[in-house]
Amino acid sequence: MHQRRSAQWYAGDDRNSYIHRAWMRRGLPADAFDGRPHIAIANTASDLTPCNAHLDEVARSVADGIHRAGGIPLNLPVVSIGETQVRPTAMLWRNMAAMAIEEMLRANPIDGVVLLGGCDKTIPALLMGAASVDLPAVVMPGGPMLTGTFRGVPLGCGTDVWKLSEEVRAGTLGAAEFQRSESSMIRSRGHCNTMGTASTMGLLAEVLGMTLPGVAGTPAPDSRLLEAAHATGVLAVELVDADRRPSQVMTRGSFLNAIVALAALGGSTNAVVHLLAIAGRLGVDLSQDDFDRTGADVPLLVDLLPAGRYLMDDLYRAGGLHAVLAEVRDLLDPAAITVTGRPLADHLGDARVYDREVIRPRAEPLRPHAGIAVLYGNLAPDGAVVKPAAASAHLLRHRGPAVVFDSVEDLHARLDDPDLDVTADSVLVLRGCGPKGYPGMPEVSNMPLPAKLLEQGVRDMVRVCDGRMSGTAYGTVVLHVAPEAAAGGPLAKVRTGDMIVLDVANRRLDADVPAEQWAAREPSPEAAKAYAAPSRGWERLYVDTVGQADTGADCDFLRGSSGDRVSRESH
Ligand code: FES
Ligand code: MG
Repeated sequence: MHQRRSAQWYAGDDRNSYIHRAWMRRGLPADAFDGRPHIAIANTASDLTPCNAHLDEVARSVADGIHRAGGIPLNLPVVSIGETQVRPTAMLWRNMAAMAIEEMLRANPIDGVVLLGGCDKTIPALLMGAASVDLPAVVMPGGPMLTGTFRGVPLGCGTDVWKLSEEVRAGTLGAAEFQRSESSMIRSRGHCNTMGTASTMGLLAEVLGMTLPGVAGTPAPDSRLLEAAHATGVLAVELVDADRRPSQVMTRGSFLNAIVALAALGGSTNAVVHLLAIAGRLGVDLSQDDFDRTGADVPLLVDLLPAGRYLMDDLYRAGGLHAVLAEVRDLLDPAAITVTGRPLADHLGDARVYDREVIRPRAEPLRPHAGIAVLYGNLAPDGAVVKPAAASAHLLRHRGPAVVFDSVEDLHARLDDPDLDVTADSVLVLRGCGPKGYPGMPEVSNMPLPAKLLEQGVRDMVRVCDGRMSGTAYGTVVLHVAPEAAAGGPLAKVRTGDMIVLDVANRRLDADVPAEQWAAREPSPEAAKAYAAPSRGWERLYVDTVGQADTGADCDFLRGSSGDRVSRESH
C-alpha cells in the first residue's frame, strides 16, 4: 500500500507529528493515526442554505459508513450558497466557494472526501473544488423535497412561483390567494423538486460517475437516503484504497454521457456553464458546441416541470435516473467509469420503468429533440443557448423588433408602462447581466412579460439576454449570450426597433442590420453605465478574472488543477 497523504502529517515521532496528532486526539484512539484513511465530509449544511439544512444528519450517516469501513470521518463545513437568499446572485459566489473548498481540502490532512451538496450551486462548486485537488472523492446528493400541494394541486418549486406570480399580474389570481400558497410551496427538507438546477446537477453528478450508483434523486426525507449515505461512507474508504480520483472518473466520455442525460431529463440550462466549468478544472476538452452536437437530437423522456408535468418524487417512484439512462443506453459511452471502478452502463442492468407517464419509452418521447441548441450570429459571436424543450414551438423561428433594457432595474421600471411600445411580436432584450456586468450572471433572462400583454393572454415572447435563467423557468429565452455586453459583446449595440431574427433550426441569432452599419455602430453609453465596477473584495477579483459563459464562467486563475500536493510544514 502506498503511504497515505495524511501520514505526511501524522506519521513519525517528531515534534510536528506530535502537534498534528495531539490537537486531533480529543477522544480519538491512538490507532486513528496508524495509517487508516482520514476522510473529510465537505458539508454544505447551513441554515441560510435551507435546501441543505438537513445535511448534518446525512453527514452522520456518511461518518458511520466511514467508521464501519475502517476510516476516520472528519466533518468539514465548507462555504455554502443558498440560491434563493444570497445577493446579487448565487452564481457570483460559485467560484469563490469552489476555491475555498479546493484550498481547504488541499491544506488539511485528508486522504479523500465525501462531497455533500444539494442546492443549485453547491454540487457544482464541490465538484469544481474536488476536481482541482483531485483527491479521491464521491458526491452524496442531499436529494429533492417531497411534493407540496395547494388546494389539491401539486406545487413545483420555482416553476409555480413564476406561474402564480404571472397570474397575479394578469389579474386571474388574487393577491391573498397567492400569499396563501407560500407556506405550501416547500413541503419538506431537500432541494427544489422540479427539474431545476439542483435536481439536474444531483443527477448529472451520478452520470459523471461521481456518486454511488442509484443514489441521485432519492428524496431528502426518504429513509433510503441515509442508507445510501452510509454506503457512500463505506465507498469513500474503498476509493482511497483504490486511489481512484476525479480525473480518472470524470473523463470526456463521462461529460458526453452527462450531456445525453441532460437532454433526456429535460435538465436545466445552468448545467451547461457548470459542466464546462468542471471540465475546465480537469483539463477535459469540452466545448459549448458539444452540447449541441451530442445532445440536440436526444429525445426528452422525463415529464417533469418545467418542461412537463411531474416532480422529482414522481421520477424516483417511476424508476429514477437509471430507468431513464437505460432508455438511452446506446447513446452512452460504455467505457466511462464511476467511483465504483465499473462503467456507468454496467450499473443499469436491472433498471425498470414503473410509470410510463413519468418516464416515456424511447419510441414515444415527449419531444424527439430535447437538447440545448447553441446559436451563433452577429448578436452572439461566441454563442448563446436556448432550450427548445422549454420554449414555445411557434417562436423558435421568429422575427421581431427589439425592445431593449439596459439593466434589470430599467426593465422593472418600464416593463408595465402602458405606453411602452411593445407587442407580442417584440423581442425583449436585456443586457448587462453577464458574469462581469451584473456581476455574477444572475437568473434574470426569463424576463416577465409586459402586464398589458399578459392581460391580452400572451404567455410567451422571444427574450434575449447575456444572463442565465432559473432551471425551473420556461419560455422562449435565448441566454448566455457571449461575449456579454459588459465584455464588449455586440449585445451592447442593439437599439430598440432593430429587427431581431431567431432561427433555432439553423442555429442563428442576428440583428437584421446591414453589415457595414452594424460594424460601425458604437455600444450604447447608457448600457455601459449599468455595468458593475466593484473596487475591492471578491467582486473585484471576480470581475477582473471571470471568463464568459461559453467556457463555464470560471475565473481564469482557477481553471486547471494544482493536484493534492502537500505544502511545507506550518511550524
Ligand atoms: Fe435550493 Fe432551489 S432554492 S434548490
Ligand atoms: Mg437557480
